Amino acid sequence: MSAAPADRRVALVSGGSRGLGRVLVERLLADGWSVSTFSRTSNDFVTEMSDKYQDAFHWESVDLSDSQGLRAFARDSGKRFGRLDLLINNAGVLHQELFLTTAPGQMEDLIRVNLLAPLHLTQACARLMVRGGGGSIVNVSSINAIRGYRGVSVYAAAKAGLEGLGRSMARELGPQGVRVNTLTPGFFDSDMTADVTSRNRERIQRRTPLGRLGTVDEIADAVLFLATPRSRFITGQTMVIDGGITC
Ligand SMILES: NC(=O)c1ccc[n+]([C@@H]2O[C@H](COP(=O)([O-])OP(=O)(O)OC[C@H]3O[C@@H](n4cnc5c(N)ncnc54)[C@H](OP(=O)(O)O)[C@@H]3O)[C@@H](O)[C@H]2O)c1
Repeated sequence: MSAAPADRRVALVSGGSRGLGRVLVERLLADGWSVSTFSRTSNDFVTEMSDKYQDAFHWESVDLSDSQGLRAFARDSGKRFGRLDLLINNAGVLHQELFLTTAPGQMEDLIRVNLLAPLHLTQACARLMVRGGGGSIVNVSSINAIRGYRGVSVYAAAKAGLEGLGRSMARELGPQGVRVNTLTPGFFDSDMTADVTSRNRERIQRRTPLGRLGTVDEIADAVLFLATPRSRFITGQTMVIDGGITC
């Protein structure tokens, strides 16, 4: 039997319509959480969850580049469900281009969506958590933040920024019961990686000690471990999940 709405733990997941975000939303709802999520566009999954979990699911169209919209979404989610226990900064945008030819505007857009957006969302959500007596924040980074790869310098800079944010925030907010951790995945299949050629997939697989690519369900398992009380004595840490490719 699912918990009464007031007793349900509440999560905010950015980018919950597709890919990793979608799996996280589905799992949290099935586990009895209330979930707020946003993306730019709706889809069949959002409609299905809205029908199935009328009281426990909320989706809105918000763009990561709209800082005021992000803050308002966080505050409204807190009001709608009465509390906030978990923030997963999942949404991200990959744009691959050599650094020397990346236009200044493109750099700013990438930093805005991959780093500034989580900063705004995290500040608004952390304030709610501190008021509520605690919570957990998981930032989804990438192995691009810890190893050099061609064509992803700006994306890597943004993701590395998220990892630094997590460590400092953990120091500030630990005493107030808020844990902050970073999950650093290697390649997994999603719309973001749909353009990766089969040659490049084989190359990643060959270089991975475990000899295969990770699945989105395996990445979600690790996020949910960091998100929930099973990791209650872990904060300020980065967990890499990549089959060993960066070891
Ligand atoms: N896939 C990989 O191999 C991989 C590896 C390492 C790290 N990661 C990281 O893992 C996270 C999830 O990646 P994924 O592969 O699941 O991505 P994905 O399949 O591309 O899904 C991205 C989600 O974010 C939303 N989103 C994208 N841009 C947005 C914007 N400007 N405003 C609001 N929402 C936006 C998308 O919805 P809309 O497009 O409708 O807005 C969608 O819901 C990202 O942070 C990514 O950097 C992925």
